[in-house]
Amino acid sequence: MERNFIRDILENFEQYDGREVVLGGWIRSLRDSKAFAFMDLNDGSSFTGVQIVLERSRLPEYDAIVRYQVGAAVVVRGEVLLTPDAKQPLEIHAASVQLEGTGGADYPLQKKRHSVEFLRQIAYLRPRTNLFSAVFRVRSETAYAVHQFFHDRGFVYVHTPIITASDCEGAGETFRITTLDVNNPPRTQQGEVDWSRDFFGIGANLTVSGQLEGETFAQAFGKIYTFGPTFRAENSNTTRHAAEFWMIEPEIAFADLSDDMALAWDMVQYIIRHILQRCPAEIAFLNQFVDKTLQARLEALAYSTFQQVTYTQAVELLEKSERTFQYPIAWGRDLQTEHERYLTEEVFRGPVFVTDYPREIKSFYMRLNDDKKTVSAMDLLVPGVGEIIGGSQREERLDVLLARMQECGLDAEDYAWYVNLRRWGSTRHAGFGLGFERMVMYLTGVSNIRDVIPYPRTAGSAPY
Ligand code: 4AD
Ligand code: MG
Repeated sequence: MERNFIRDILENFEQYDGREVVLGGWIRSLRDSKAFAFMDLNDGSSFTGVQIVLERSRLPEYDAIVRYQVGAAVVVRGEVLLTPDAKQPLEIHAASVQLEGTGGADYPLQKKRHSVEFLRQIAYLRPRTNLFSAVFRVRSETAYAVHQFFHDRGFVYVHTPIITASDCEGAGETFRITTLDVNNPPRTQQGEVDWSRDFFGIGANLTVSGQLEGETFAQAFGKIYTFGPTFRAENSNTTRHAAEFWMIEPEIAFADLSDDMALAWDMVQYIIRHILQRCPAEIAFLNQFVDKTLQARLEALAYSTFQQVTYTQAVELLEKSERTFQYPIAWGRDLQTEHERYLTEEVFRGPVFVTDYPREIKSFYMRLNDDKKTVSAMDLLVPGVGEIIGGSQREERLDVLLARMQECGLDAEDYAWYVNLRRWGSTRHAGFGLGFERMVMYLTGVSNIRDVIPYPRTAGSAPY
């Protein structure tokens, strides 16, 4: 069916004056006032729908049409009429309305406000609501902005594997992949599961990060990024952790931690500007109904410079705060959500990079600083969400890397390919991982990660 799209009509309304159009969409509401009726139709192409004017005198099936119910799918043919004095720039006077799929009194999305908890239970319908229409369009535009940002700067997009035998973060939070009979797996003489007889001939899992493979490509292309799904079996039931989430991981050669932070900030600002420009209706809606500070916050960030603090300074700030934290802070302990919130919301009142964490709480691949106590790491913390980016300069010195791997209990043999990268043409290099969902949370003001993922997977829950 040849059809027009509401977005195109609204964006070029002057050209559409008096023209006949065909729209396919879903009825959001229908009000009958005997001689006329008004239908709010949304076709998904834009956040806002259009008003369809139905006239009894013009439509032989008028009485049938006004009984169509909310949620019904219809095809409307009609004329565009500009309405310069109304809120909407135009309306459409229907010449015919064809029913394609009925709605119903039992349709769960009747015109009223629903809780996000309720909508989560009908995840297959929630994209038809204003909230999720806004969130998922922002999500789509954010992905597009990410690709555009890196391509415009000459980065090569690398598809790192989803199935891998390594555990990049070394946290043991991987999902095992196996075709062995779980009730009766083959065993070695020592009684352990014999992974050599598994599908891949080795114990395999879903990736927690594409970084290690990404590093190898950065040592060939100079600057690369990955953008794909990652998986973590963290058994933490929080509003910021998902078992399946997407990560953007650039890696740059001949670069150090300050280059890394500059890149991260550039990217974040680019994404914010893109969303402000491309999703004004969505942001206006989210600003009104989800987070009243959203628009001003994003606009302020779009061109601001970044703030930065070392972990050691951050700990001092927390100690000085005279706050009682649930998890007391001391040098050497990881920052908890309450600490991150205090720093971003009370001290810096905006995003802040925290750098140079103690080696004991960070991964093996991070470059050891000269003080031997800290590593060249950075996390970008933002108000409301906490950590959205984790990155570092990588350890490029073979001997230091081997010592660190041993310290972290990793067998260098298992990572021979990664280690070998330090033997031939090893360069200073750095990279980071942006949690895509956390970025979308920050861009929309939505406070639960389950509400920015079409079909969220979290501990204890994987419906659909
Ligand atoms: O800080 P993380 O663990 O860093 C890495 O994985 C590095 N290999 C990245 C790199 O340097 N290339 O994770 C990066 C980001 C976090 O800052 C967070 O935004 C997000 O990924 N993240 C999660 N998002 C949702 N659910 C989870 N369970 C997440 N775990 C991490
Ligand atoms: Mg991290």
